[in-house]
Amino acid sequence: MCGIVGYLGKKPALPILIQGLRRLEYRGYDSAGVAVMNGEIVRMRAVGKIDSLADKLKDTKIEGTVGIAHTRWATHGGVTEENAHPHFACDGKLVIAHNGIIENYRELKEKLTSLGHTFKSETDTEVLAHLIEVNYKGDLRLAVETALAQVRGTYGLVAMHANEPNKIVAARLGSPLVIGIGEGEYFIASDATPMLAYTKKVTFLEDGEIAEIGLEGVRTFNLRDELISKKVEEIEWNDEQAQKQGYDHFMLKEIHDQPTVFEDAIRGRVDLEEGTAHLGGLNMTDDQMRSIERIVLIACGTASYAAMVGKYAFERLAGIPTEVDVASEFRYRDPIITDKTLVFAISQSGETADTLAAVREAKRKGAYVRGIVNVVGSTIARETDGGTYIHAGPELAVASTKAFTNMVAIMILYAIQFGRLKRVTLATGQRLIKALLEIPEKMNQVLKLNDQIKVLAEKYSGYKDFLFLGRGINFPVALEGSHKLKEISYIHSEAYPAGEMKHGVNALLSPEFPIFAILVKDQLYEKMRSNIEEVKARKSPIILLATIGDEAVKELAEDVIYVPDTMELLEPLVNTLLLQLFAYHMAVILGKDVDRPRNLAKSVTVE
Ligand code: G6P
Repeated sequence: MCGIVGYLGKKPALPILIQGLRRLEYRGYDSAGVAVMNGEIVRMRAVGKIDSLADKLKDTKIEGTVGIAHTRWATHGGVTEENAHPHFACDGKLVIAHNGIIENYRELKEKLTSLGHTFKSETDTEVLAHLIEVNYKGDLRLAVETALAQVRGTYGLVAMHANEPNKIVAARLGSPLVIGIGEGEYFIASDATPMLAYTKKVTFLEDGEIAEIGLEGVRTFNLRDELISKKVEEIEWNDEQAQKQGYDHFMLKEIHDQPTVFEDAIRGRVDLEEGTAHLGGLNMTDDQMRSIERIVLIACGTASYAAMVGKYAFERLAGIPTEVDVASEFRYRDPIITDKTLVFAISQSGETADTLAAVREAKRKGAYVRGIVNVVGSTIARETDGGTYIHAGPELAVASTKAFTNMVAIMILYAIQFGRLKRVTLATGQRLIKALLEIPEKMNQVLKLNDQIKVLAEKYSGYKDFLFLGRGINFPVALEGSHKLKEISYIHSEAYPAGEMKHGVNALLSPEFPIFAILVKDQLYEKMRSNIEEVKARKSPIILLATIGDEAVKELAEDVIYVPDTMELLEPLVNTLLLQLFAYHMAVILGKDVDRPRNLAKSVTVE
């Protein structure tokens, strides 16, 4: 959701900026633009893909070595070139790109209009550009600082002024910004991916910080204009990890990454001998862990379905009542939190605005708040008092796949760790760890079904509606399978716990309404089988995900795909991969933009 890139160094900035924007494409956007210091500031913007912007630029000679660029995901004002960033103020000397929302932009605009400023776009960002211009007295950083003191809202901001050609000013409140430090060159971006090809050394701007980036280095100030010192950190991800590695889409690559990144998630964290897990980042003593009376899992989107799997694991292994709350509900619900409540915020990006707000709310109320996060150094990772990175590596497709799996993996590890302190026996703990270690091989077996799933998707691609069914721990799997299908293929799809069908959804069953049901050999097998019999009687076409060797289910379904058996609690780590592949192939067959589905963003940093 909106992306910022900046470069200041000795190389021509334009190719670096365009390449950087491409790296941020996964966040979702509908227009793009760039501004480069080239004697005067040269700006170019285009609606649509970055290719359209690159096309416009291909015959230009812009050799300047300082510039900023932006991908915009429309909030204030339609998708037009005028609304695309970067935005100039009146005199064409000051230019800014901004992520976030300026809440008081209307009153500021009125004030600025009365001072004679004219506006060319409908955006809140352009108002901010004029506000900085009004405050400019020869020092861009001071002008930005003074202007920001007058705005309410959120921002990740980069600004340049033609009078100070070797300077970029960056500021953050709510929208992430990372500064990359190379050899005599500097990068600024919404996350580290655009700079990975050049440097691994970064500093993360915190809320309320303003950085002044020049050829001689980076100086960071707080809003009171006090110089502060910043830690330089090393990023682990390399550039190659952020590429497609020969797959047609990032999503397909990321689905296939799962056996490896799952191993990354559990490596060094499981203890077969003791039948437990060690997740040190929890920062709680054993006694504190035993004292927890309630766990609350807060998340959005795919992470919330991972959380639902987590609920089963925590309740079954640790015996701790656990609830899942969608972050946008939690934050306004006045949730019941005590000092015996442990809240986990689960997020791939670590930047989701609703999840972050929920974290702050839970902290305010006195809970233990921990993160289960993928992006290292992200805001949620930093604002929680501990937690665990899921080590899924860069996830660039908007639709989340490997992050789901690793979130589930980490929650299962936590549940084992809590469980072993309370009621899980050594033998059960060891069985679980052993089964976890076998998961990558089982995932590989599912991935080998890719071609079979593609044929299946071809057969079903003409249907307009889908229903996913599961029970027990496979109900969240059904929800996630359905979520994936609607996100990327735009097919209407729902998921239900199969036992609930008779209370309403049965009315929808017909030959036009196919069912994808998870019928694996676990404790609810017989119950689930009866539910499917009922569906069959109503003539809906049925696809079954079944356990290898269960030949008997063939008579129930139009199509059956077999997956390897595992311990019940771990089934989501195997079964979900098959549903991810099904959604992927459906979307490809229907010609959809798999990695960047319409109207969705990878990282939702506004409410
Ligand atoms: C967006 C993405 C989803 C993701 C959700 C939560 O809606 O499109 O794929 O599940 O945000 O994101 P998070 O980064 O907090 O896991």
